Amino acid sequence: MTPSLLSPESLGDALRSSGFAAIEGLFDVGLLQALREEALALHSAGQLQAASTGRGAGKQRAGLRGDSTLWLDDPACGEAAGDFLSALDELRQRLNRELLLGLHEVEAHYALYPAGAGYVRHRDRFRDDDARVVSLVCYLNPHWPADAGGALRLHLPDGPRDIAPRLGTTVLFLSDEIEHEVLPATQPRLSIAAWFRRRV
Ligand code: OGA
Ligand code: MN
Repeated sequence: MTPSLLSPESLGDALRSSGFAAIEGLFDVGLLQALREEALALHSAGQLQAASTGRGAGKQRAGLRGDSTLWLDDPACGEAAGDFLSALDELRQRLNRELLLGLHEVEAHYALYPAGAGYVRHRDRFRDDDARVVSLVCYLNPHWPADAGGALRLHLPDGPRDIAPRLGTTVLFLSDEIEHEVLPATQPRLSIAAWFRRRV
């Protein structure tokens, strides 16, 4: 049985006590649908690029991950991306109030995994970039059959926990602690991954 998702109010407590929170209903569904449409249009226009791991000098070419991405602050992005970055900044301030994390900024990208693609087990901190404190993944797939694969698998101290990438579900976790992976899916899988960063 899939453990149930938490309500938005319990986010801070869950992150504090277990290092992760899987939430239902954190963002407005209309905004999530607009983000989905924007991402699909950008993809059709060839704006998403095969992802690499790490940024800048430490960049590693793929093999580890099969998604294509576009940063939400890219000029090609539209209104939905801007609205979502504003919502993420409000969330950043809330996390600072509730958890005193001193989060300074947030970065986010669209990610599209074609059928069969995944992302091997990893942490979200890179040797050349240890500014990431909290990771967030927000899913944009309205219909996700139980047998479609594509779960986010969190490797927790008491064992793995799989979360289906369904629109309305948002997962937050501590970037330097929680190892995780994306399991291959039988259909394309659309999401936004975001990182709340401290000043380094
Ligand atoms: C990532 C990542 C998880 C997901 O982009 O670093 O782990 O469920 N994404 O898309
Ligand atoms: Mn990750």
